[in-house]
Amino acid sequence: MLVLGIETSCDECAAAIVQDGRTILSSIVATQIPLHERYQGVVPEVASRAHTEWIMGIVKRAFQEAGLQPSEIDAVAATAQPGLIGSLAVGLSFAKAFAWARGVPFKGINHMLAHLYAPRLAADIAYPFLGLLVSGGHTILCRADDFDDITVLGTTIDDAAGEAFDKVARHYGFGYPGGLVIDQLAERGDPDAYRFPMPFLHKGEHRYDVSYSGLKTAVIHHLEDYARAGTQPSPENICASFRKTAVDILLSRLWKAIRDTGITRIVAGGGVAANSYLRRQLMARKDLQVFFPPLALCGDNAAMVAGLAYHYFRRGDRDGWDLAPSSRVPDFKWRREQH
Ligand code: KG4
Ligand code: ZN
Repeated sequence: MLVLGIETSCDECAAAIVQDGRTILSSIVATQIPLHERYQGVVPEVASRAHTEWIMGIVKRAFQEAGLQPSEIDAVAATAQPGLIGSLAVGLSFAKAFAWARGVPFKGINHMLAHLYAPRLAADIAYPFLGLLVSGGHTILCRADDFDDITVLGTTIDDAAGEAFDKVARHYGFGYPGGLVIDQLAERGDPDAYRFPMPFLHKGEHRYDVSYSGLKTAVIHHLEDYARAGTQPSPENICASFRKTAVDILLSRLWKAIRDTGITRIVAGGGVAANSYLRRQLMARKDLQVFFPPLALCGDNAAMVAGLAYHYFRRGDRDGWDLAPSSRVPDFKWRREQH
């Protein structure tokens, strides 16, 4: 089965053709980073306008690279939620129109489930596993019993992991987007140069939840301390110490979930899954089976959308032409663990 996938939930305009949920025949990702760089963040109106201008060319390139004609596609999928509503609408409308014109089924895909699927494009992974979904908009620790059977164990109570990287980088003027820049600087720094606080969970908060606002504030105040003292901080040391704490926050919850559930198969996904310290720490645990997406599939891409969609199509699932985009993840798709 040949599935055309489209992804326009944020600032990447992407199209891919994937065979049988596994073989990537083409995967085109056009990033809008240069358009948003001067604002140091994604501007929704700029994003949806660029998607509108680019989508046709990106899909054409996906066909060219795969050496296929539109008539050869068996089904079409696009990210339907969560994301920026105007950006989602571009890819979703394009995908529905394409599927309708070709008379093939169409399915709207959950972006976070697609991130969780990305490592499965490169490896066979059995269920159940613990999923660590870490991106610019989401931080989710979950248990996966099937591709669409997800129990959310913990989320962030404030900033997402990638958002914390981006905000710290913006405050220090390290560059945009922050995650990769901080990761690269951190490689040359001392992670023990500064001790930043781990979040303190308050009564009533869920035991697998994370929080990043305290860490972000501590790191930002650190710069002000330097300014008062009239000295310059070492960017490498700041980055290394921040990165270590930011990742250790995630890992502390993950280790706990492993102990509590006994599940030792771990799947990471989302832009922050590209983080080198996170990858090293997880790979060092020889008692775990750890799966990361290939670096090219950590960030937003359409191959993960087409790959996941195959499993819905295979069991006959499809959406109607009236499917609307949604900025949030609908609750019914996710079971929250009772505690
Ligand atoms: O999954 P993604 O491409 O888009 C969203 O769905 O949000 O994730 C983007 C996020 C950004 O916050 C970016 O700073 C972060 O992933 N990121 C990283 C790294 N590369 C990208 N964070 C930490 N370390 C990295 N190497
Ligand atoms: Zn994403």
